[in-house]
Amino acid sequence: MTARENTQRMEKIVSLCKRRGFIFQSSEIYGGLNGVWDYGPLGTELKNNLKQYWWKVTVRNRDDVVGLDGSILTHPAVLKASGHVDTFTDPMVDCRTCKARLRADQLAEKNGAKQCPNCGGKDLTEARPFNLMFQTQMGASADPASIAYLRPETAQSIFVQFKNVLDVSRKKLPFGIAQIGKAFRNEINPRNFTFRSREFEQMELEYFCRPEQGMDLLAYWLKERIKFYEEIGINRKRLHILDVPDKDRAFYSKGTFDIEYEFPFGRQELEGVAYRTDYDLQQHIKASGKPLDYFDEETKERFVPHVVEPSAGVDRTVLALICDAYDEDSAPDEKGKMETRIVMRFHPRMAPIKCAVFPLLKNKEALVAKAREVQALLRPHMNVFYDEGGAIGRRYRRQDEIGTPFGLTIDFETLGEKGEELRDTVTLRDRDSMKQARIAIKDLVETISSKIC
Ligand code: GAP
Repeated sequence: MTARENTQRMEKIVSLCKRRGFIFQSSEIYGGLNGVWDYGPLGTELKNNLKQYWWKVTVRNRDDVVGLDGSILTHPAVLKASGHVDTFTDPMVDCRTCKARLRADQLAEKNGAKQCPNCGGKDLTEARPFNLMFQTQMGASADPASIAYLRPETAQSIFVQFKNVLDVSRKKLPFGIAQIGKAFRNEINPRNFTFRSREFEQMELEYFCRPEQGMDLLAYWLKERIKFYEEIGINRKRLHILDVPDKDRAFYSKGTFDIEYEFPFGRQELEGVAYRTDYDLQQHIKASGKPLDYFDEETKERFVPHVVEPSAGVDRTVLALICDAYDEDSAPDEKGKMETRIVMRFHPRMAPIKCAVFPLLKNKEALVAKAREVQALLRPHMNVFYDEGGAIGRRYRRQDEIGTPFGLTIDFETLGEKGEELRDTVTLRDRDSMKQARIAIKDLVETISSKIC
């Protein structure tokens, strides 16, 4: 695809997200809040499906991982010890012409000089570090002792609660603590839709181990995480693994891989999988004076565990799911004329709505009653949508555009009016192939459930 085609594709995706209720700009009626987004009804379902699947494969399906739900407000001592207070910065420059504040490392160069993307000006200040953390005040007094931060990553509460979780869970190394939750970064230039936001969610796992297991576990978790993206339906060809070179890695990391996705705006990081050694626990031991070590009952050794961290962004993965799913093909309209069909090819596991139920006609009471019956049958097992408005073709098209993988039509055959053998069967339409098959109502739950779990 050319750059122009990619830009157009992204514009269509952003427009669909708003039109169909995936993602809205935050505080839109007041002009919007830059770098902050609200998820609409379908976006919320999609995001929940992603988080629930991550939790299922990372925590529920394993014996060696437990969960945590830490607070967002964070004690400054935690973030001082972790290094965030002193070094969690991006280089910032000001454009003296248009007064824009810009991230120095993201500026394009023209004829060897960095240029302001807003006005094209080259009169820029020297770069200076800008701390990305949001600071707030706890309690009624506004003195320095009341400073707290909104967490810039979920990881730190896992390190700080390591001992408590170890004591209550009685896990043996290697074991992990997982968390999904909000994080906040005062990004200098939020951009590319939700990709770089100021408020976002992370899905992080801190997997604690013996030092000699670190490198093997790094390779293991990289493989697991690639498998995860394939399982949620991301095209493997659009995923890339970057082995982060020594000079770009945190000084304490012995190995880091970035999992990248080919967004229409370029290849960008979805997740980092890093072997962080014992750096974080050691920092908190030093700063708090508390022992965050591990006693191995078998070898009688006491030591500080090392950690491998797969750290993924919820919002970035949702955006990758949306970009990956967006497709256009052609399908006949009501008069049989071919028209462009927008179809979101979400994996059924991720699709916001799994199944749409349509009575063929809304003014036939028996059809409507049967359709409502089918909806009630499926509802305990999946997110079902009932739609009786408009021609059936148009109803299909509305569901294609939001990625509903299955459509069920309740027609006169269902009522037994075209022969007893078809009574209590419905038409099951597949979103991708648009093929239709007849299926007994009693088989619906099992057939559809097996594809969405
Ligand atoms: N605990 C390690 C950590 O936070 P990171 O690479 O800074 O590492 C992990 O962040 C992931 O969080 C990223 O790969 C990305 O998916 C997501 N993320 C980071 N900053 C983000 C932002 N401003 N907007 C959206 N997602 C972000």
